[in-house]
Amino acid sequence: LASIELDLASIEEGMAIKTSWRGKPVFARHLTAAEIATANQVDVSGLRDPQSLADRTKEGNAKWLITLGVCTHLGCVPLGAGQGESRGDFGGYFCPCHGSHYDTAGRIRKGPAPLNLEVPPYVFKSATAVTIG
Ligand code: FES
Repeated sequence: LASIELDLASIEEGMAIKTSWRGKPVFARHLTAAEIATANQVDVSGLRDPQSLADRTKEGNAKWLITLGVCTHLGCVPLGAGQGESRGDFGGYFCPCHGSHYDTAGRIRKGPAPLNLEVPPYVFKSATAVTIG
């Protein structure tokens, strides 16, 4: 229960999966090159919760965005990990409860949420296997 193994191999570029860790939803997303570029173009100093994509991913693995699927406003599960779900105005995740929009780095960009989607502790065991927790 304390930690989980996650196999990323089957997540195609542009897609995401939902799993859970310690009873909380977790999103693992395979960012496209365009999504990475978009995230890196943002002036971090202007963000509500200033973090770069590099701050939120592992070195050499910026294409793997692993976050909790818990809106930092009041804890709803944002949309955007499931196929065909809205990803909001910034192409990341969208919380329909009160309209929080997260970008392709899972950073809050619009709406009431105060913080970026939380990145859980995790390590890469191989190129496509991670242990969360
Ligand atoms: Fe997500 Fe309020 S819980 S916007």
